[in-house]
Amino acid sequence: MDALDLLEQQHRDVASLIDRVAVATSPGERTALVAEVVRAIEAHSRVEERCFYPAFRARIGDGGRLYEVFEHHALLRFAAVNLLRTRATDLRFEARLDMVRELALRHASAEEDWAFPKAKRNLCDEELDQIGVSVARAHEVLMEAAPRRGAWDRSPRREAAAREAGSRRLGEVAAPEDRSSLPRLERVDASARPAPGRRAHRETARPTPRASARRVSRPPS
Ligand SMILES: [Fe+2]
Repeated sequence: MDALDLLEQQHRDVASLIDRVAVATSPGERTALVAEVVRAIEAHSRVEERCFYPAFRARIGDGGRLYEVFEHHALLRFAAVNLLRTRATDLRFEARLDMVRELALRHASAEEDWAFPKAKRNLCDEELDQIGVSVARAHEVLMEAAPRRGAWDRSPRREAAAREAGSRRLGEVAAPEDRSSLPRLERVDASARPAPGRRAHRETARPTPRASARRVSRPPS
């Protein structure tokens, strides 16, 4: 179970789903397929970040470029969810679908032209097989845990809860060495914002007046 074969297959699955959206004729079918695109992109990108790239970084390095990869993942996830929140009859739907397709293709090309060949040269078959086992298990868990159409579309809280449940279950199946080498990524999660009328969590709240005053104060010249 070679990790690179699995990840390339996931790229092809995402591209195939996007093509199916493009040729779907009914708005309901399009929306249902876009939900599958979102699930597939979410699961694939998270699996790469949690199972493949930690091993890649430990053996090969290229830390700076990996953060570029993670930024592209975040952008692709955002574009996919943004598409799902667009009605299939909306005039912007086609443009947003094109954007998801372009980002997904760019993502696949960047990895298949750079990261995967580099991993192939630097990791032995046994290591790639071990990563492949983790990739397969984690992908299955995340696909199962990802919210379906209604949750993605209408409830950011349910979306966040499902994502968190997926992370917990992923932690259960990931080997301890996998967890210890997880990249320290900043989570940019729009769904974690407080609902209107609710106070923000202390960590995300506006700075206190005293803190603001400290920032704007200038030393005497
Ligand atoms: Fe990928």
